[in-house]
Amino acid sequence: MNGPLLEVHDLVAGYHRDLPIVDGASLSVSASEMVVLLGPNGAGKSTLMKAICGLVLVMGGAIRLDGRDLAGVPTHAAIAAGIGYVPQVQNVFVTLTVEENLRAGGFGTTPQVTRERIAEAYARFPLLAEKRRQLGGALSGGQRQVLAIARALMTQPRLLLLDEPSAGLAPKAAQEVFAAVRGISAGGVGVLMVEQNVKAGLAASDRGIVLVQGRPVLVDKAEALARDPRLTRAFLGERVA
Ligand SMILES: Nc1ncnc2c1ncn2[C@@H]1O[C@H](COP(=O)(O)OP(=O)(O)OP(=O)(O)O)[C@@H](O)[C@H]1O
Ligand SMILES: [Mg+2]
Repeated sequence: MNGPLLEVHDLVAGYHRDLPIVDGASLSVSASEMVVLLGPNGAGKSTLMKAICGLVLVMGGAIRLDGRDLAGVPTHAAIAAGIGYVPQVQNVFVTLTVEENLRAGGFGTTPQVTRERIAEAYARFPLLAEKRRQLGGALSGGQRQVLAIARALMTQPRLLLLDEPSAGLAPKAAQEVFAAVRGISAGGVGVLMVEQNVKAGLAASDRGIVLVQGRPVLVDKAEALARDPRLTRAFLGERVA
């Protein structure tokens, strides 16, 4: 199929019908593309991701994956359609082992397929193979993010949504996570990633989107956006678009 993998058009979404948080958002992500979603605290970045995977109310607009409208579908249908999601917090089971976490991510497939995909996860992230019998709660922050991403890949998504994968990580661990994500996108997966770390997030990505009050106000190639003086102004709450 030509055209972008994900197309969001005029999306209105939130937690209450009469209080839109995402308010007229349009954006796209292509296969093999890594797009970073930036914006001040409370801009609606996490809510936008939750809307794409059916976790909040969608009051208007369209969410299309390969042309198929997913607006308002339940989460299991969004996942079945090819969306993988790593939430901002509590994204691994701390009382389950690494391997059990991966198995949980493969829920809904056959045990045989789950075994194959766990083997693929270990081949991609040898660190997880080493730690397979350790509890999720015993991993470092960076290792947990890798586990959370590997778990989301268990359903072989075409679009991966990552909410602040570098939060709380030292710069080196953050770079390792970004490198892993780049590898995933190079393999054909479209990635939409929320980041607080503007500079590192843009450096890792192809394109950037700045969301303010539930709406994209700047959209550009990552390199251009990194040099755009309006970037800081948007974060400071000034009107830029
Ligand atoms: N479960 C919820 N119920 C009601 N309102 C919520 C809920 N979660 C978030 N909100 C509100 O939605 C708005 C946007 O929140 P959201 O978490 O999407 O922002 P964000 O851009 O991800 O911010 P941050 O950078 O702090 O993660 C905020 O005003 C927040 O208070
Ligand atoms: Mg958030």
